[in-house]
Amino acid sequence: MIIIKQIKSMSRWAKTQKNKGRTIGFVPTMGYIHEGHLSLVRKAKKDCDRVVMSIFVNPIQFGPKEDFKRYPRDSKRDYRLAKSAGVDLIFYPSTKDMYPDNFLTYVSVTGLTNILCGRSRPDHFKGVTTVVTKLFNIIAPDIAYFGQKDAQQAIVIKKMAEDLNFPIKISVLPTVREGGGLAMSSRNTYLSASERYDALVINRALKSAKRLISSGELNAYMVISHIKKLIKQKKSVRIDYVEVVDMNSLKKINKISGGVLIVIAVFIGKTRLIDNITLKI
Ligand code: PAF
Repeated sequence: MIIIKQIKSMSRWAKTQKNKGRTIGFVPTMGYIHEGHLSLVRKAKKDCDRVVMSIFVNPIQFGPKEDFKRYPRDSKRDYRLAKSAGVDLIFYPSTKDMYPDNFLTYVSVTGLTNILCGRSRPDHFKGVTTVVTKLFNIIAPDIAYFGQKDAQQAIVIKKMAEDLNFPIKISVLPTVREGGGLAMSSRNTYLSASERYDALVINRALKSAKRLISSGELNAYMVISHIKKLIKQKKSVRIDYVEVVDMNSLKKINKISGGVLIVIAVFIGKTRLIDNITLKI
């Protein structure tokens, strides 16, 4: 497995692969690799000739009071896991190279980014779309892989790729869960044993909502109330939002029909966790 830190060397490698007629699958990450990331790598290996993973804790997608400094980092562990999953190249740029002192340009998707997570994390998606644009330009992959756990991020990136004519397919793969149902996230490492136990209520509530809808409850307000009631049973869990939205536009819906997304964001202690399920009625 090759490790490249310089932007120019990364682009040169990608161009060489293209010239040889090879396709590139790209898995962007902020490191602290888990099964969710590795499931993206495995799919990329099936689809493409070469797999590139980026590891970059992107400072501009964190708010001033968020966890940028304490975000888990362990490059040796990441290299080992990436290599064992068959990653061909890790791109590991420095912050100084990605955002030099004279950096002035940002990419922002309007409309989809000031709702849900964007409401409590105002500049988050602008940071994500800016870094993903840079990575797309540097690596020029054929397919880029994202996890459904970050449903809003996936929708925002799809829209950005479409609006800015990136010749890149965006592939979104199912959420990978731990044994008890907790969605895999690098941030799960922040949770104490009791917090981790309480966090299981998120998936339990989503599953219970699904059952409620299957039994005929199509009123979104009733479903949201049901989820909130279940989550509130855990004193350590504070709800940021619970919404039922259209799975493409992210607009709130009143009557559940067609493709919907039930989305949840909570705080457990200082840790913010998100999860969702999609339903087709
Ligand atoms: O989902 C993530 O890990 C990040 O938001 C991403 C897409 C790598 C951009 O920094």
